[in-house]
Amino acid sequence: MPPSRQVKDYIRTIVDFPHEGIFFRDVTTLFSDPRGFRMAIDQMLHPYAGERIDKVVGLEARGFILGGAIAHQLSVGFVPIRKKGKLPGPTISQDYKLEYGEAVVEIHDDAIRPGEKVLIVDDLLATGGTCAAAIKLIERLKGDIVSCAFVVDLPDLGGRKVLEAMGMDVHTLCTFDGL
Ligand code: PRP
Ligand code: MG
Repeated sequence: MPPSRQVKDYIRTIVDFPHEGIFFRDVTTLFSDPRGFRMAIDQMLHPYAGERIDKVVGLEARGFILGGAIAHQLSVGFVPIRKKGKLPGPTISQDYKLEYGEAVVEIHDDAIRPGEKVLIVDDLLATGGTCAAAIKLIERLKGDIVSCAFVVDLPDLGGRKVLEAMGMDVHTLCTFDGL
């Protein structure tokens, strides 16, 4: 019998996107496959069986797709963290470093109530900069972060260490070596 297909096997690699020398790990091929997508959602939820989670926070953009499905499965609310200027209501902002320059992410200032148990969801963990900014936003709203869940970890970029140094629990479904 052939070995069964794992989450990693559904992820496509696009060479030289968005820049030369980058191997882009493309999760759209995972999301578009009914078995692959369900497997990813089920596996992302598995570590939290029996744990209290009040809100799922998804990071723009692919974290919205995963986070929406996970929040639905848990029957809890979903909260977006978006790039600057996209959220309509009052927000708080956090800047973070990119490979070149800086970016800013925002959350609605009433999206998390103090003490709520929060699960952060995104597709991919690279340097950890995006998620670290999200953690700071949630902590400023006094949310209690249960864990950070990703499909892909790029261990060579060190994101897991950055998040663990912030006291976070981190779960990822698969790793790709190299950048
Ligand atoms: C990618 C990815 C993660 C983030 C990881 O998003 O989807 O959100 O980078 O990188 P980091 O760990 O180094 O912060 P990107 O910023 O390309 O934006 P998008 O999801 O809106 O396309
Ligand atoms: Mg992203």
